[in-house]
Amino acid sequence: MNSVVSSQQIFFTALAKIAQLLAGEGEFQETMQAILVRLARLTGMKRGMISLYRRDLEQIHVDITYGIPDTTEPVFYRLGEGITGRVVASGRPIAIPRIDQDSLFLDRAGARSKIDRATLAFLCVPIKFAGQVVGALSVDRAAKGADLAGELEFLEVVANLLAPRVHVRRVQEENTRLKEAIGRHGPMGTVVGNANSMRRVAEQIDQVAQTLTTVLITGETGTGKGLVASEIHYRSPRRDKPMIRLDCGAIPENLVESEIFGHQKGAFTGAIENRIGKFELAHGGTIFLDEIGELPLASQVKLLRVLEEREFERVGGGKTIKSDARVVIATNRDLEKEVAAGRFRSDLFYRLSVFPIHLPPLRERGADIILLADFFVQKRGEEMGCKISRIDSSAIDMLISYHWPGNVRELQNALERAMVLATDGIIHGYQLPPSLQMAASGDESDADAAGSANFQAMVKSYETTLIVEALKKTRGNQTKAAKLLGTTKRVIQYKVAHHEIDYRKYRGVKV
Ligand SMILES: Nc1ncnc2c1ncn2[C@@H]1O[C@H](COP(=O)(O)OP(=O)(O)OP(=O)(O)O)[C@@H](O)[C@H]1O
Ligand SMILES: [Mg+2]
Repeated sequence: MNSVVSSQQIFFTALAKIAQLLAGEGEFQETMQAILVRLARLTGMKRGMISLYRRDLEQIHVDITYGIPDTTEPVFYRLGEGITGRVVASGRPIAIPRIDQDSLFLDRAGARSKIDRATLAFLCVPIKFAGQVVGALSVDRAAKGADLAGELEFLEVVANLLAPRVHVRRVQEENTRLKEAIGRHGPMGTVVGNANSMRRVAEQIDQVAQTLTTVLITGETGTGKGLVASEIHYRSPRRDKPMIRLDCGAIPENLVESEIFGHQKGAFTGAIENRIGKFELAHGGTIFLDEIGELPLASQVKLLRVLEEREFERVGGGKTIKSDARVVIATNRDLEKEVAAGRFRSDLFYRLSVFPIHLPPLRERGADIILLADFFVQKRGEEMGCKISRIDSSAIDMLISYHWPGNVRELQNALERAMVLATDGIIHGYQLPPSLQMAASGDESDADAAGSANFQAMVKSYETTLIVEALKKTRGNQTKAAKLLGTTKRVIQYKVAHHEIDYRKYRGVKV
């Protein structure tokens, strides 16, 4: 590329070829490989790499390479690591005039010898889709005579062309991995989770299940406290004995003690027979006291005694009963605050805090949201006899951006609802509940306007999905898309502008 004019001509020819390849029928790998080959032939580039930024792994995965020997192990960079990591983290291109003079250059793919390095320049640009960095495109070329600024600009145009395909590839890769992860974790138990915080929970369950230690499970509503309690029981040597659950918040205060400890006939008005309490029923097994924060102060003393001395009396009965029940307790309240407010005895709180397991809210579990979503879709799909093959990317975006006040339970309900609505084996964004549509449209606050905003957000989301699907099928051709949807080009043009759909993006997308 000696003169400006000739390099522009070369770039133009290369872009035309790339656009043609993207419009072809090839699979992702094949198409991208062919594009890298073209870049090399036409622009003098020596090696090329297309990397994906994987949200589930929080790493950058080198996906397609040209001129680099195949490695058996996949090559990864952490965010911010090496040039590629920097480009993805910052969203900005980087050019290195001579790679031997740059300490950031890692050559993890191991393609360049020492001699090579002094003669090579390296260029890396982010691949962005819908405002997010989805990957990176990097090339190296002879250092001599390189117009780095001009070539970076050219590569950015190439990256824009590749972006829709790279985006789709990344979502597919993430889904595949999540399915594998479910396979791995499934047999271990029913508590699905891969986030560090959830791995810690799994370790804690393992540690404590074999012992008789009292466990206190805390966490917001719907985070899986009940599930973890069962897991502890079913992984313990007591798994064949009963697990008895009592919801302390669900029984009237004056009957709580009789429920937990039982009563003797005549102990109080209405006690017409002897009654066995939950502690006795759980003999040899596990007693699960749910919502312990609701236990009246007076009964807390009695519970403390069972935990410390392993014995109790029925209400109104003199005989002391030995308890051999393993105790698991759960609450969604902050017991420390309850103690400070005088609603919970501090001695009981300390006794319960021997082995606490805290379940983090779903919004803090990162990629686990999609992991759980896939798990529920598979599980419920089998139960309901409906096969859902995937969750589309608009739905995935909504699931990820929502704040999940109802945690895992809310996620489960949202997907069940969407599964009922699904007709083509795919869960689409517009089938998710209104609250999620609101999150995606960035408006969750105004309760008064919520109803109509809900409706509008759903209509917008539905229209956007329909139009985008049609544009993908027609490769961005609005006239054909209109025909496909049985409407006019004017309507499509209006909606495309109104919903800020970038139809040009779909010129290269293959469905
Ligand atoms: N990690 C998980 N893997 C699979 N399923 C889960 C997980 N966490 C929760 N669930 C499911 O989500 C639902 C809600 O969980 P669960 O009832 O255990 O929550 P909770 O913390 O006890 O809620 P609450 O405080 O309202 O009682 C259940 O159907 C449970 O099986
Ligand atoms: Mg519960």
